[in-house]
Amino acid sequence: MFAFVVALALSAPVALAEEEAMKNLTTVTWAHAVNNKTYLEAALASELSMLEADVVLGHITGKDGPPIPIMAHPPATTSDLSLGDFLTGVAQYNNVNAKQKGVKLDFKSIEAFEKAQDIIAPFSKPEVTFPLWLNADILPGPIKATTKPVDAEKFIQLASKHPRAVLSIGWTTNYGGNITEGEYSREQIGSMLRLVNEHNVNQTVTFPVRAGLASNSQPVLLDLVRETSSLNSSITVWSSEGDNVEVDRLRALILTMGLEKTYLDVPHELAAKLHLPPPTNTKN
Ligand SMILES: *[C@@H]1O[C@H](CO)[C@@H](O)[C@H](O)[C@H]1NC(C)=O
Ligand SMILES: *[C@@H]1O[C@H](CO)[C@@H](O)[C@H](O)[C@H]1NC(C)=O
Ligand SMILES: *[C@@H]1O[C@H](CO)[C@@H](O)[C@H](O)[C@H]1NC(C)=O
Ligand SMILES: *[C@@H]1O[C@H](CO)[C@@H](O)[C@H](O)[C@H]1NC(C)=O
Ligand SMILES: *[C@@H]1O[C@H](CO)[C@@H](O)[C@H](O)[C@H]1NC(C)=O
Repeated sequence: MFAFVVALALSAPVALAEEEAMKNLTTVTWAHAVNNKTYLEAALASELSMLEADVVLGHITGKDGPPIPIMAHPPATTSDLSLGDFLTGVAQYNNVNAKQKGVKLDFKSIEAFEKAQDIIAPFSKPEVTFPLWLNADILPGPIKATTKPVDAEKFIQLASKHPRAVLSIGWTTNYGGNITEGEYSREQIGSMLRLVNEHNVNQTVTFPVRAGLASNSQPVLLDLVRETSSLNSSITVWSSEGDNVEVDRLRALILTMGLEKTYLDVPHELAAKLHLPPPTNTKN
């Protein structure tokens, strides 16, 4: 009995430390716009853990025929990389490497997502285990953003056919340049919550939020994540190069939300300024 207690006391701190490391979502690192073959190869060869890439309808350079889902950022409609080849490439890498790379597919239109269904399906089966995120801006957001959002209802409905995929749903934004101040309104957050509830979303959810705006929206974002906690919800803080961001406010948001509920996808310069607290020393 005594020996048993001692063994427990010795192993507990190690287990705790491992668990804490796993729960620090800010340790996840990102490659962006992995929209061509050369960069896909480079990203797979890198230490980065998540590959973010954009999906539009278009053509493989030099090929005709009906438009297909390709990796490209608007306004581009051609690429040397199709969605199918992108996913196959990542899956092949993951088959022979212990450290899995995940993908975040940013769908730029509902048509691209509709046409992508059969292409995604083999990779959203339960036996495939690498992280698969399906992302779109599905609601109009700050500040009076005029970009047309991706059809919210259709996106959620189609995404539910891929239950193992993480649903990454956010707002269009208009920020940066001479727009340096703003926030997510209670109405914008409420619209998202209503969508999630009305469509009985039952898969893991993350809400991408733009750092400069999110840092001024702490109370409503805490509400959003609390109200969706049964979906293991999180926020994914992202930022564009040059966005005005109040670093202290962003730090406060991340620490109040918790490192276990906050993915961080911001430029290195901003991440370094945050000085996130290191793991607590479990040895005392
Ligand atoms: C490939 O993608 C990377 C990252 O988006 C970009 O920097 C590079 O210019 C692209 N190369 C070509 C040939 O399009
Ligand atoms: C912001 O910049 C845009 C384009 O550069 C300009 O049209 C607009 O008037 C500016 N707005 C303000 C408030 O300065
Ligand atoms: C999750 O939702 C989908 C679509 O609404 C439904 O088909 C599925 O049965 C639900 N799964 C669970 C485990 O509730
Ligand atoms: C949330 O996490 C729990 C524990 O890991 C898991 O059993 C459950 O299926 C998850 N639910 C969602 C919607 O992610
Ligand atoms: C969380 O991860 C960040 C980024 O890797 C690191 O700077 C920080 O020290 C970590 N904190 C904890 C508590 O794990």
